[in-house]
Amino acid sequence: MSKATILIELQQLQTGFQQALAQATQPASLEQVRIKFLSRQGLIPEFLKQIKDLSPEDKIKFGPQLQEFRKTSEQEFSTKQALIASQNIPVQNIQTRDAQTQNIQISSKINLNLTLDPSSELPNQKFGSLHPYTQVIEKLENIFISMGFRIAEGPELETEFNNFTALNIPDDHPARDSQDTFWLRLPQQLMRTQTSPVQIRELSKQELPVAVIAAGRAYRNEATDASHDCVFMQLEGLLVDKNISVANLLGTLKTCLRAIFEREDLDIRVRPGFFPFVEPGLEIDMLCPFCTAGCSVCKRTRWIEIVGAGLVHPNVLRACGVDPQEYSGFAFGFGLTRLVMLKYGINDIRLLHSGKLDFLTQF
Ligand code: DAH
Repeated sequence: MSKATILIELQQLQTGFQQALAQATQPASLEQVRIKFLSRQGLIPEFLKQIKDLSPEDKIKFGPQLQEFRKTSEQEFSTKQALIASQNIPVQNIQTRDAQTQNIQISSKINLNLTLDPSSELPNQKFGSLHPYTQVIEKLENIFISMGFRIAEGPELETEFNNFTALNIPDDHPARDSQDTFWLRLPQQLMRTQTSPVQIRELSKQELPVAVIAAGRAYRNEATDASHDCVFMQLEGLLVDKNISVANLLGTLKTCLRAIFEREDLDIRVRPGFFPFVEPGLEIDMLCPFCTAGCSVCKRTRWIEIVGAGLVHPNVLRACGVDPQEYSGFAFGFGLTRLVMLKYGINDIRLLHSGKLDFLTQF
């Protein structure tokens, strides 16, 4: 075969194949095209067999072009095959979810190309809603982002170092007992008992200043009742920069609580508290957003305990390689589960993980 005839034959074969493909409109005629052009003894493989008779120089020159022709022919064939298949979907029985409950079958002919009507409505459509956790987390994240914070994350399976040691909770510290830990069989690994280890992960990057919040699950080996669960949600906050004081912490928390409960006059009060990773440690209460004179939510005290917080302990900064002479910061931890229960008046923590639709559709 001469060089000139190869190219002419290639051209003719290409044109013939494309015409045949264009004329095939049904699976049967398409199959004829496949047999004639692409099957083992079809025109295209037969034509390509001639490559082996070419001189080494011509093989280098024409080989890639001929292989490319085989590839594109096969691709064009598959595309056409998919098109014909989509136009020949048989009559199907579609059961809508409502129809299933009423045991009615609706038959409909779907022709994907022709009869999709995006404006048609199904009867009695049910819409989902965001879980109350998701709603509150999204709201909190927006509030903190508007104040210049960034969203951080950490794993639920943590190291003992991040969850306790670096947070200034030494081996024999009673806090390790009070947070009944789920230990794993792996050495020094546990399910995090708090979201505070995210602080360690962020501080250890030593990219200062840092301002982050992290929402997520925490695990404690506790008996479950209406107000305790062994899995619950927390929201952790951390800000470290130069000259950070308790005033910055209180301003941040006040802004956040006011936005969450949509009450401009929502006040907070501060009590001393102890958490090993902050000094001073503070317990922060908010004025009950549901009453003016005492109610069952605030147990008639008008105050609700809501956040643990304080100024980051110098030992924590040191454990992460940050110089406490130069930097200071605040940290806080919300009981996010408690916040969600308060906000929506949920009286049993177990409902939050129950997956019950009659509960979830209220939000
Ligand atoms: N991790 C604490 C807990 O689970 C909550 C907490 C208190 C977090 C004070 C903080 C903090 O960041 O400063 O009880």
